[in-house]
Amino acid sequence: MEQVPVLEAKDISFSFGNSKPILKEVSFTVGAGKFVVLTGRNGSGKSVLLKCLKGLYQPTKGSISIDGEDFSKLPKRRNSSIGLVFQDAESQMVGQTVERDILFGLENLGIGGDERRRRFEDVVGLLGLSPLLNQRPRTLSGGEKRRLAIAGVLVMDPHVLILDEPFANLDLTGVRQVLEALVALHTKGHAIMVVTHEIEKVLAHADQLILLDGGRVIANDKPSKVLSLVEDYGVRRPSFQGRPVPLEALTWLK
Ligand SMILES: Nc1ncnc2c1ncn2[C@@H]1O[C@H](COP(=O)(O)OP(=O)(O)O)[C@@H](O)[C@H]1O
Ligand SMILES: [Mg+2]
Repeated sequence: MEQVPVLEAKDISFSFGNSKPILKEVSFTVGAGKFVVLTGRNGSGKSVLLKCLKGLYQPTKGSISIDGEDFSKLPKRRNSSIGLVFQDAESQMVGQTVERDILFGLENLGIGGDERRRRFEDVVGLLGLSPLLNQRPRTLSGGEKRRLAIAGVLVMDPHVLILDEPFANLDLTGVRQVLEALVALHTKGHAIMVVTHEIEKVLAHADQLILLDGGRVIANDKPSKVLSLVEDYGVRRPSFQGRPVPLEALTWLK
C-alpha cells in the first residue's frame, strides 16, 4: 500500500502581483520520514516556494496537502503543520534565555503541564542544548543559534521540518553541529527538507534531491540520479582532479 506523503505540492505557481511568474507549476512530495534536499542557484525560487508552502504567500495556482489533507485554502493550517527554520536564525529568537526561547511558542499556544515538559525535554535532548539553557541567545555561537532555532520550531511538533539554507555563515564546527542534529532527527523518523545550494555539506544523508531552476522543478529523484545535472543549473558538484567526488563523500560529518 502506498503511504500518504507528509507534504504534497501540486502545480504550485506564484508571482508577485502582475510581474513575471516566480514559481511555475512546481510539484513534489516529501514522504514520511524522508530526508529531502532542495537545491538550485540563487534566485531559482527556493525561498519563495517555502513561503508558499508555509502559508506566508498564497500560491496563484496549485494545491498543498499535509498528511493527505488539502490545506491549499488554509494557510494557517499550513503554518502550524510546517516547521520552517528561516535562513536568518536570529530573527526567530525572542526569549531572554535559551530555555525561555524554546518555551515561548508553547506558551503562546497555551500548552502546559506534562505535555510542555515532555516536548521541552525531547527537543533539548535531541539538539544537545541542556548545557546552554540559561545562556542568552545572542551570546551563542552560529551553530548553537541554528540549533536553538531548530528547537524552537520542533517543539511545536510540526509534521515536516524545513530549513532554509541552514549552513549559511557557519564554520566547520557549526555545520557539523547542525548536520548531526538533522541526522539524529531523521533517524528518529522526522521528515526533513533541507534547502541549500551547498550540497557537498549534506547530500550523502539525503533520500531525494529536488533541483529547481527558474521556478520550475528540473529533476526530482534519488540524489545519484540528479547529481550529474546540477552543474548545468548553477549548483556546484564537487570534483577532485577532474573527477566527481562520490556521493557518499558529500557530507561535512566525519
Ligand atoms: N518580496 C519579493 N518581491 C519581488 N520579487 C521577489 C521577492 N522575493 C523574492 N523575489 C524574487 O523571486 C525570485 C526567487 O527568489 P528566492 O525564492 O528568494 O530565490 P532563492 O531562495 O532560490 O535564492 C528572485 O528573482 C527574487 O528576486
Ligand atoms: Mg533563498
